[in-house]
Amino acid sequence: YTLSLHDALPICGSLRGEHVGNEVVLFGWVNFRRDHGGRVFIDLRDREGMTQIVFGPDIAGGAHEVAQGLRSEFCIAVRGQVISRGDNGNAKMPTGAIEVEVNTLEIFSESKTPPFNVSDDERLDTKENLRLKYRYLDLRRPSLQRNFILRSKLGTLTRLHMSGLGFLELETPYIVKYTPGGARNFLVPSRLSPGSFYALAESPQIFKQLFMVSGFDKYFQITRCFRDEDLRNDRQPEFTQIDVEMSFATPERIYDPIEKLMRRAWKELLGAELPATFERMTWLEAMNRFGNDKPDARFGMEIIDAKEATAGCGFAVFEKAEYVKCLCVPADKAGALSRSKLDKLTSFAKKRESGGAKGLAWANVLDDHTWKAPFSKFIDAEKQVAMSKALGAEPGSLLLFIADDFETTHTVLSSIRLKLRDDLEMVSELDDSDPAKWHFLWVTDFPLFEKNEKGQWTSSHHPFTMPRPEHVEHLVSDPGRVLALAYDLVLNGNEVGGGSIRIHRRDIQTKVFEALGLTEEETQQKFGFLLEAFTYGPPPHGGIALGVDRLAMLMSGASSLRDVIAFPKTQKGQDLMTECPNPADDAQLEELYIRHRPLPGGDEDAPAADGDGKAQ
Ligand code: AMO
Ligand code: AMP
Repeated sequence: YTLSLHDALPICGSLRGEHVGNEVVLFGWVNFRRDHGGRVFIDLRDREGMTQIVFGPDIAGGAHEVAQGLRSEFCIAVRGQVISRGDNGNAKMPTGAIEVEVNTLEIFSESKTPPFNVSDDERLDTKENLRLKYRYLDLRRPSLQRNFILRSKLGTLTRLHMSGLGFLELETPYIVKYTPGGARNFLVPSRLSPGSFYALAESPQIFKQLFMVSGFDKYFQITRCFRDEDLRNDRQPEFTQIDVEMSFATPERIYDPIEKLMRRAWKELLGAELPATFERMTWLEAMNRFGNDKPDARFGMEIIDAKEATAGCGFAVFEKAEYVKCLCVPADKAGALSRSKLDKLTSFAKKRESGGAKGLAWANVLDDHTWKAPFSKFIDAEKQVAMSKALGAEPGSLLLFIADDFETTHTVLSSIRLKLRDDLEMVSELDDSDPAKWHFLWVTDFPLFEKNEKGQWTSSHHPFTMPRPEHVEHLVSDPGRVLALAYDLVLNGNEVGGGSIRIHRRDIQTKVFEALGLTEEETQQKFGFLLEAFTYGPPPHGGIALGVDRLAMLMSGASSLRDVIAFPKTQKGQDLMTECPNPADDAQLEELYIRHRPLPGGDEDAPAADGDGKAQ
């Protein structure tokens, strides 16, 4: 190389007016080439930014000639003089005051014409499948580079913060005992024990509890978790947690280091000053006010209980239902919801994903507080006025009622509320450094159990979660009313973390297993080692895990986890770049005692996965 890799070099984003006159060496990629007035202009790019470099016959004839052949994404080195661009500067570029006149050019490697332009402007025009196939090129885009720089800093800061507070970073195994139930596991066949399997750990849950038994009273780990779930924008089959466990813990003693970590990250990485403690809200309050357990409290339009106000109104839909609740869309936003939009909103409310409403009763509140509504004929005018007032509805506002059971009413109203948030732009765009942009809250007191589709009780979080002490007596007799010492950390309507105080008493653990319908034998087979460990002086303990990918996604303003995971999987769980998953060869299968069974309906259609996404 003419330009040795050992030459001192500034980075492409760092040169400013004060560097004029310096001789510099820059390494990077050709972002764009323009020929202009006999000169060649190139934006040279590296992960920190872009610098304009110039080639001319008058600067260095040789370099200028070679520069004619430069194309996008060639990897090059240049040596030259930093000069001022004077009045021709580009105020939009941090390096826009200067350019580098090149006297030596070296091409490290050429590039084929890339399948898409590596710029942010054109990112959304490129099909995501193509971007994922050429992920290493997609990752060259400045916006993605920024996301990963931020993510890297979040990791470094977490390690500094947690170790500073006396937490030990300890590792737990990834290939672990397979226990059916809970989140769907990825299986790993064992060659040395043919016919037997490991599971990929869905979280370090049991091992971190065993660390507490071992006396490592404060543990953390930035760790990978694996779950064979149906994927969504905020779910990947492998994802990263900041995993934490503490002995002698109370919920408040867990919130404290986590709140401090969030404050520090937001301050150092985004310049935002978060409140010293985050709001706490019980699960029941979250359900009643927002209809879900991860409320977006950045805007109002909370759910209003309309059962009392509508009592005796004469409209059978309202009178017959167990719950009648509504949203009141304020007058300045309601105008945007025309009749046809309301019809669409009704279809949306009826969709299974939205909660499956039987209908959506909407009412425009008129100047005299009576209603224009498809069902207004069933309710006399005086009652309409009384109801408007009782529900706090001003003229011009729009009432959206759902009448149904607890679950449907709340789920549907929550879906509508979040849809209107987006459609009617109810959350204003704020600067990252504005604390109002970030609404953190703790949701507490979750029910310990929930019913699955088959009507059986399952753990809402995981079976090691401690019930509230005053509810222990109902564990077996009335599982539905038992609340848990469990909490989630929510940010802007996203669950970014979850944890609980754990059961360390064997008698309580046995009752929980009993409530879950596990026999003594099943319990022993699955968790015998844990119960055994708990007979040797376990400390009271608890913990939490934060979703790093979700935090990084929200901090960077990305709309998908795929924008903060370097090599993500698609919705179907595939890596389009390496083309995985792929069939294993027969010899290897033989060694594992695994035989290929033809797929139902031919090898084309793999059976559909339907994990319930629950974790340990
Ligand atoms: P939980 O299952 O709630 O708890 O997970 C903790 C956090 O991890 C994130 N998360 C995910 N992120 C991306 N893709 C996924 N598929 C995914 N699943 C979960 C979420 C979630 O809040 N062992 C317990 C924690 C504990 O009790 O200490 C656990 O794993 O942000
Ligand atoms: P119907 O009497 O079924 O024609 O419904 C009259 C109005 O009430 C329509 O606007 C329906 O969309 C609405 N509606 C029906 N069932 C419900 C329900 N369970 N909750 C809210 N609105 C409903």
